[in-house]
Amino acid sequence: MEIDYSKRSFSYYPTNAIVYATCIDGKWSEPVETDNFNLSLHCFAGIFHYAPSCFEGLKAFRGVDGRVRLFRPDENAKRMASGANYLDMPSPSMEMFLDLCIRCVQLNWDFIPPYESGASLYLRPILVGINPQLGIKSANDVMFAVMASGVGTYSGAKALKPGTAVMSRNYDRAATYGSGGYKLGANYAQSLHAYNLAHNQGYRELLFLDSATHSHIEEFGSSNFFAIKNGCYVTPDSTSVLPSITNKSLRTVAEEFGLKVERRTIYTDELESFEEVNSCGTAVVITPICRIDDKPALESDTVTKVIKYSDECGPISLKLYNRIIGIQKGIEEDTYGWCMFVDERKA
Ligand code: PLP
Ligand code: COI
Repeated sequence: MEIDYSKRSFSYYPTNAIVYATCIDGKWSEPVETDNFNLSLHCFAGIFHYAPSCFEGLKAFRGVDGRVRLFRPDENAKRMASGANYLDMPSPSMEMFLDLCIRCVQLNWDFIPPYESGASLYLRPILVGINPQLGIKSANDVMFAVMASGVGTYSGAKALKPGTAVMSRNYDRAATYGSGGYKLGANYAQSLHAYNLAHNQGYRELLFLDSATHSHIEEFGSSNFFAIKNGCYVTPDSTSVLPSITNKSLRTVAEEFGLKVERRTIYTDELESFEEVNSCGTAVVITPICRIDDKPALESDTVTKVIKYSDECGPISLKLYNRIIGIQKGIEEDTYGWCMFVDERKA
């Protein structure tokens, strides 16, 4: 049956198969490819209790030339290894990470959206503690699995359609000396309730501030923050913000375009002076923000300040978007060698 990718958002859509490997007593198994999506785990496995879990997100794109590309998967491998290191648990080698991602794309070849659709095959690598335990300890044994979903835009709206955001002054995503700089499942659990409050009031995004003073910008719940001002690309510099691969790539592209790149503290009172404000990440790509509301509390009806931006994507952000998407889809030259080709598996 032909899939209508134009109706898709960033959600789970069934695919063919997943691939996983386990590390038990320090020894990694061979990869297992299976169409059984129901993993069997011991109920005392750490993942069900203390959240020894980190994950990744990356996309496979079908290019204008018909070839399939993964965008900077080596960066995801490194970030997963840093998360596992923070959790004191084993992590897959770079080679294993890439191998399982390639296998997952090949196993789900028929679910890679066509070039024209604008959609992509999102890969979700996960690393979870699986040994039975009761005491609060890091996991000794882990499962590394990679699954996929053919996704559309993050919100389901047209690409680059601006969305609204609300600042979170009474819920924090990450503590100053906490785990925000790693892609841990626990960080997202921390944001769920606040997200629900924001979404139920119609906001697309939630903008987290630093937990110590609530005076400067950290990041959105799903993505990093960047703004354009006076020919500068400005983005927060904080150890409790996830080091986004998209943001890193955009900074390179911004410099290519002659923009000055500033990574620094951004106080909330600077928000009004920005010409263009966006969220950026694998799932959201670049999503312009057209309004940020400031509220003393997410539960409250009181809005103390409304900061408005354009209802269209700004010209510089659009140029950055086209360059990144252009590289990902083989429309533009991959000057930086960011894309990794994946070929269809021969029968
Ligand atoms: N920040 C958060 C909280 C995220 O969940 C993501 C998504 O991965 C990002 C930033 C963007 O990171 P990346 O560009 O590596 O996808
Ligand atoms: C991604 O962009 O890959 C993410 O993981 C963000 C997602 C949790 C919304």
